[in-house]
Amino acid sequence: MDPLAYRDRFPILAGSVYLINHSLAAMPAAAEERLAEYAHAWKTLGIRAWAEGWWEMPLTVGDQIGRIIGAPPGSVVMHQNVTVAEAIVLSCFDLQSPRNRIVYEEGNFPTVRYLYQAARGAEVVVVPEGEPLDEAIDERTLLAPFQHVLFKTSEILDVEGVVRAAHEAGAHVVLDCYQSAGTVPLDVTALDVDFAVGGSVKWLCGGPGAGWLYVRPDLAEQLEPTLVGWQGHARPFAFETELEYAPGVARFLTGTPNVPALYAATAGYDVIEEVGVAQIRERSMHQTGLLTRLLLEAGFDATSPLDPARRGGTVTVRTPGFEGVHRELAERGIVCDFRPETGLRLGPHFYNADDELQHAVEQISEIVATGAFERHLGAAARF
Ligand SMILES: Cc1ncc(COP(=O)(O)O)c(C=O)c1O
Repeated sequence: MDPLAYRDRFPILAGSVYLINHSLAAMPAAAEERLAEYAHAWKTLGIRAWAEGWWEMPLTVGDQIGRIIGAPPGSVVMHQNVTVAEAIVLSCFDLQSPRNRIVYEEGNFPTVRYLYQAARGAEVVVVPEGEPLDEAIDERTLLAPFQHVLFKTSEILDVEGVVRAAHEAGAHVVLDCYQSAGTVPLDVTALDVDFAVGGSVKWLCGGPGAGWLYVRPDLAEQLEPTLVGWQGHARPFAFETELEYAPGVARFLTGTPNVPALYAATAGYDVIEEVGVAQIRERSMHQTGLLTRLLLEAGFDATSPLDPARRGGTVTVRTPGFEGVHRELAERGIVCDFRPETGLRLGPHFYNADDELQHAVEQISEIVATGAFERHLGAAARF
């Protein structure tokens, strides 16, 4: 199987060197068709569309995510984003001393940090960069919401160790797989994680509005989220006045689902399933290895791990004036981004060709050597 054979299915690749798959992956052309199918169903079926699949979509689409992350059918539900998914997890617990600690890594994604910082009664413990998360977990820990792959540096964290420490202490983990699902193999069942969350804009090629939440099946039967809605009721269409939780993961639903986003997202999941995450990882390790080698040879400072086994799908690199380099690259049709602490982020996906990676590094070198980045310095960039 040649991963480059998939290029035609991603129209943006024809016009740019698209190395920003860690942020917003290329749209599969099939997503446009799915959105047209959605519009057609709305137009022709009207209200009947709910009975013909729309209502169930947070569960049926969740099952497709389940196949990608090693979760059994009926253990994943779709939500708008990671923030909502984690808020629902948090709503299952009382934040009462002595078990009111939330332990996470310093490099955690801001939205997750904000959610727990804002939680009344939570004592947040931030583990400094480079220090092991598992050692900070004890009997006072309620939840350890941490990333599988750090968004800033692309470092893969030791999930097993954190899960073991959390379970020994009677705590639960919430694994944020946004930067791993679709590029780093992941089996939430084998890892015995309690909750896993992610979204679809990055490596899953599914676009915005399709976040997901996995709940360990035995926990899904016991927990009672207080952030709940009528989709989480045992009999939503009985319109009963009193809450009775649906069995299993359905109780982790809220209200009317984000149907168009779910249509679009399945186009991305289909291609990820077709190529296979193991194969994508193999290619990704080759691509990030090549990028790292070329960047080091060009004299730059790679800030992502040098060990391929510890590196996710992104290579990060410091160059002089990298904000300006990023701007100049964009003008030359090379799409990437940067973060203040780590420099440029280059995230190839399976459909990127090796010569695109070589071209990107040549351009970075040329932009730095000629000072072409200087005219952009000081300009604000958001994405
Ligand atoms: C690790 C990680 N978590 C969460 C998010 C975003 O969270 P949300 O889906 O709530 O926007 C991102 C990036 O957008 C991320 O990289």
